[in-house]
Amino acid sequence: MSQGFTEITEEIYSYINDKFAKEDLFLKKLQSEALSLGFPDISISAQQVSFLGFILKTINAKYVLEIGSLAGYSAIAMARELQLDGKLITIEIDEERADFIRKKAVEAGLGNIIEVINADAIEFLRDYKPEFKFDLVFVDADKQGYVDYLNYAITLLRKGGIFAADNALAFGEIAKSKLDERESEVLAVRDFNDALASNPYLKTCLVTIGDGLAMAVKL
Ligand SMILES: C[S@@+](CC[C@H](N)C(=O)[O-])C[C@H]1O[C@@H](n2cnc3c(N)ncnc32)[C@H](O)[C@@H]1O
Repeated sequence: MSQGFTEITEEIYSYINDKFAKEDLFLKKLQSEALSLGFPDISISAQQVSFLGFILKTINAKYVLEIGSLAGYSAIAMARELQLDGKLITIEIDEERADFIRKKAVEAGLGNIIEVINADAIEFLRDYKPEFKFDLVFVDADKQGYVDYLNYAITLLRKGGIFAADNALAFGEIAKSKLDERESEVLAVRDFNDALASNPYLKTCLVTIGDGLAMAVKL
């Protein structure tokens, strides 16, 4: 069995972006507006967008739940890939960010598809009883909540539905023995990866794009 892997150099990274993950003007403008408002630069990468879009098309997704929306970069990118009568529910704790996304969803012509919930995700999910099951749940919020989000996602997903969580490599710290000031977040991601990988109701993998997407399909 080969133990080799190809290191993704800056050159290769740019090559992949050019060929497979071209960012469009709307999302570029959204990013720069969000930065000018002082939003942090922590959205998923164009390559992750391209991968999630690929998955959504593969499963002909209609219903998506996102936890952690920021400026709506990933929400808008994913909503574009859904069936025309699809729904993307995105949960964002920060009110200014939630308002920004609502505005951008309308500008993108996705006002009917994207629903922004301005709430703490755990509090919202505790009582959330949608009339449908989700095709995909994407988690990209506070790391301490990841294990809970996984457990909620398992009940909210349909059989064959996909779970994805960003930062599975914990900012590159996942396998380090000595941790820095982000220790509590790294430990939370480790707990989450352990919970995901050992769950008997899921088939899992870790895709090493961006800061790592932990993936699962509900069996
Ligand atoms: C990494 S950003 C999301 C980026 C977004 N998915 C994208 O790629 O464009 C994380 C977001 O999660 C939000 N967040 C953090 N804790 C949360 C919670 N408990 N409930 C809901 N949102 C939360 C933060 O306010 C932040 O905007």
